[in-house]
Amino acid sequence: MAATRLFPGVALVTGAAGTGIGAAVAKAFASAGCERIAITDVNETQLLQTRAAIESAHPNTRVLSQAGNITDSNFIDAFMASLRTQFGRVDYAVNCAGVLGDNKRSTETTLEQFDHVNNVNYRGCWLSSRAQLRLMLQQDPLPSHDPDRPVQRGSIVNIASQLGIVGRPTAPSYCGSKAAVIAMTRSDAIDYSADHIRVNCICPGVIETPMTTHSEEIIARLRPAIDIAPMKRMGKASEVADAALFLCSTQASFVQGHAMVVDGGYVIN
Ligand SMILES: NC(=O)c1ccc[n+]([C@@H]2O[C@H](COP(=O)([O-])OP(=O)(O)OC[C@H]3O[C@@H](n4cnc5c(N)ncnc54)[C@H](O)[C@@H]3O)[C@@H](O)[C@H]2O)c1
Repeated sequence: MAATRLFPGVALVTGAAGTGIGAAVAKAFASAGCERIAITDVNETQLLQTRAAIESAHPNTRVLSQAGNITDSNFIDAFMASLRTQFGRVDYAVNCAGVLGDNKRSTETTLEQFDHVNNVNYRGCWLSSRAQLRLMLQQDPLPSHDPDRPVQRGSIVNIASQLGIVGRPTAPSYCGSKAAVIAMTRSDAIDYSADHIRVNCICPGVIETPMTTHSEEIIARLRPAIDIAPMKRMGKASEVADAALFLCSTQASFVQGHAMVVDGGYVIN
């Protein structure tokens, strides 16, 4: 008998450009046999690179890519309309798009900077997941990989941060935006459990991506956080991607409203 596929449905990933967590998640879905993947990011050139990499490694996988800004609700509507036309549904949504902010204390942070970080990280994540939930609610559930388990109408994973759980100097807007994502995740998990939709989030530690390696200054700023964590290294985007795929899959069928740390042990210290 052929093995049951873990990802027979449609995946959607925001923040999927470049070499960050979103791109790793999109590629991991393709490697795991998901054959319909929708990706978006504000950076169109790098988004197309993710698409090309998936199509070249997995010729049977259909990729919908559409660039845009997740803080714009009109763009979210347009992207979801394209996804609906091309694939008809969304089963696994991983909301990765985010920004770090400019590393200042509250008294040096401008209102514009505070709004920018919260607009992308919290409001944009809410706009994305709201649209995903709306579509999921209209679709028939898919069976589990295990016939003994309940069906799944959809699974959402929001990428929060360890900084939504613990504090870090000079990051009040970012920490607050990620705490909001964790709280929103829990609330949505309660509201949509009866619909067979699971909503979880991941709290990565310091992960080696353009966000954390784009300058010597940011690497030096993050060094203490790397050294405090028992594993004393940066994580890899692929390590976060594997956790996201687990949470999306029916292997995580009883995991609901969870904030999973993937941080080399940082928050246990
Ligand atoms: N790298 C880390 O150490 C780390 C740790 C904890 C949490 N995170 C979170 O993980 C997620 C992915 O970050 P990453 O490390 O891969 O960084 P990254 O900079 O490589 O990826 C973030 C992506 O989001 C996109 N983006 C930014 N603003 C957007 C907008 N308004 N609309 C659409 N796309 C937008 C960027 O273009 C980029 O491709 C973020 O939410 C980040 O906060 C990262």
